Amino acid sequence: MLLRVAVLVGLAAAAHAKDRGRELVEDVCTYCHNLDRLQGQALSREEWRGLTKGMISEGAPVTDDELSLILDYLAKNYGKGRSH
Ligand code: HEC
Repeated sequence: MLLRVAVLVGLAAAAHAKDRGRELVEDVCTYCHNLDRLQGQALSREEWRGLTKGMISEGAPVTDDELSLILDYLAKNYGKGRSH
């Protein structure tokens, strides 16, 4: 029983680390509006940082560690991508 719990927790942690940035965006950034807001944005990581800081001052609950994961995900999926 204990072993089984440990295995499940381990699996959950692994899945977590892998797509943490995405999870954070899907959780935190849908707090006040849906992800449609992100569509059509093509911002650099630094521009996303500025925008996300703005969301944080609106009340988005994001720690510094989470911010960096969020920015990685945003820059990759809603970034300037094609230009470089
Ligand atoms: C506490 C509430 C809140 C949370 C949480 C939040 N936002 Fe927002 N967001 C807003 C509000 C309010 C607006 C509309 C502000 C405006 O139009 O000036 C907005 C607008 C936006 C826009 C459109 C900006 C534009 O110029 O059109 C984007 C993109 C965006 N949010 C991204 C995010 C991302 C990414 C996250 C997660 C890190 C997030 N938001 C979390 C409140 C929030």
